[in-house]
This record gives sequence, structure tokens and C-alpha cells, in this order.
Amino acid sequence: MAGEPVAAPIREAVAGAAAELRSGGIEPCLATVLVGDDPASATYVGRKHAACGEAGILTRDVRLGAGATQEEVLGAVRELDSDPSVHGILVQLPLPGGLDPAPPIAAISPSKDVDGLTPQNAGLLASGRPALVPCTPAGVMAMLDHYGVETAGRAVTIINRSGLVGRPLCSLLLGRDATVTVCHSRTRGIGGICAASDVIITAVGDRSRFTLGPEMVGEGAVVVDVAISRVDGRLAGDVDYDAVIQKASLVSPVPGGVGPMTVAMLLRNTITAASLGGQAGRR
Ligand code: GUN
Repeated sequence: MAGEPVAAPIREAVAGAAAELRSGGIEPCLATVLVGDDPASATYVGRKHAACGEAGILTRDVRLGAGATQEEVLGAVRELDSDPSVHGILVQLPLPGGLDPAPPIAAISPSKDVDGLTPQNAGLLASGRPALVPCTPAGVMAMLDHYGVETAGRAVTIINRSGLVGRPLCSLLLGRDATVTVCHSRTRGIGGICAASDVIITAVGDRSRFTLGPEMVGEGAVVVDVAISRVDGRLAGDVDYDAVIQKASLVSPVPGGVGPMTVAMLLRNTITAASLGGQAGRR
């Protein structure tokens, strides 16, 4: 279940929409805020900027040192938020130790919240009225749709309860009439829960704590691997891919699965924010 065949046409449609906006005098622009020197976060932000460049979306790249204060991060977000030439704002997570992501995220106007993480957009999604939706969950749903995976009435298990992945995915899947189970570090009997599921979406990202093996997967199930970790110096997800693919009907690989979808959905959200000119997320 590769992401690229799903992501490529989305990026193309975004490029077309960006050109249309530009011809109407709007230069779509995404601003990212990266705090600290985590190399993985810097790589992800770099990919987002490159994809924007290819799609004809302008970018601003705000970087703060690992020693930045809570006030400095908040100030950077506020400045971008009050700038009418910036349509989307993304604070790359996680922030370095000691910094609380909640205040800077809450300082983003819902209409510029291309990550869908502000209390307003998270609340709209949780109450079944999605506006700007978090990129990875939106990307997972687009992948399931593209590969014809039915979720209505099916047992779907999510292994993650974060605001970035598990909670929004739960809301999106409930909106599609799935029967959703959300598992986390305190869940008992996770293997049995997974084995009884039609679809498993896993996003732990630490192979020393968790690996999804074939004994946890029912015959013909669909497995979506959202995690990124390193195993013996190579990128890997949560899933023991070679073993699980023998049992599952579809498995998303890492790399090359959900990753390209997250970026494509960020581009799409940026176009939505730019086209709505301040109205996205207001209902
Ligand atoms: N870190 C990992 N994924 C994401 C994402 O989708 N958005 C933000 N802001 N940070 C992330």
C-alpha cells in the first residue's frame, strides 16, 4: 500500500490550485516554526519546504535555537499569525524538552492552522464537523479510500492516542461508521485486540517497546504503519513488514507509505487556508 501513487495526484491538484490562486493575486504561503536541532525534525521540515516549492507555494522558515523560551516561541507564532501574507502556520513537533506546545498552537488562528491542532479545529473534528484536519490522519484516510478499504461497520484498531495522530484518526473513522478501538501504553491484551481487527493503524515509533508481528494480525487484515524509527541504522515502522505481509491483505511500507501522504495533505490544507482567506475553521 504505497503512498506515492496516492500523494502524487494530490500534489498535482495542489499545484494547479496554487497557480489559480496566484493568477487571482493570492500567493499561497506556508510558514514553519522549527525549534531546536533535532535532525529528524529538520529533515521533515526540509521535505515540507521542498514540496511547497514544487507545488508553487511560498514558504517562510522560522528557526529558533534549542534554548528558546516559551515566550520566544509564542512571539514567533504571533508575528506570523498577524502577517496577512502568511496563510498557513505549522509548529514542528515535538518541541525541545521543557517547552509546552499548547500555548503556541493556541496562538495560531484556526483559519491558518494547517496542522488542524488548535483547540477550535480539534474541537470541530471531535464533534464531527471537520474543518482543517491534521495531515497524517487525513493522509491515512485518503490512502484507505484510494486502496478501496471499507471501514463502515469494520473493527479498526489505532495504536496511538496523541492529538497529532490517534485522536483525530478516531474521530475521522467514527465519521465513517467504523467501530474504533484506541490502544496505548496502558492497554491490556493489545495482541488479541489487533488480531480481531479488520484494520490496524499503528503509530508507536519505538521498536524497543513495540513491534507489530504476524501473531497480532488476522488473515486478510489491512495494516497501516504510521511510525518512523530506526532498526539497525535503517528506517522502519512499527510493523515487521516481511512477516506481516504474508498474512495481511495490505500493509503500508516504511518508508514510502504514509510519509508522502502527510506532506501532500499539508499542501492541500495550505491551499484550503489560502483560498478561504481567513474563513477556514470558522463555523
Ligand atoms: N511532527 C511529526 N509529524 C508532525 C506533523 O504532522 N505536524 C507537526 N507540526 N509536527 C509533526
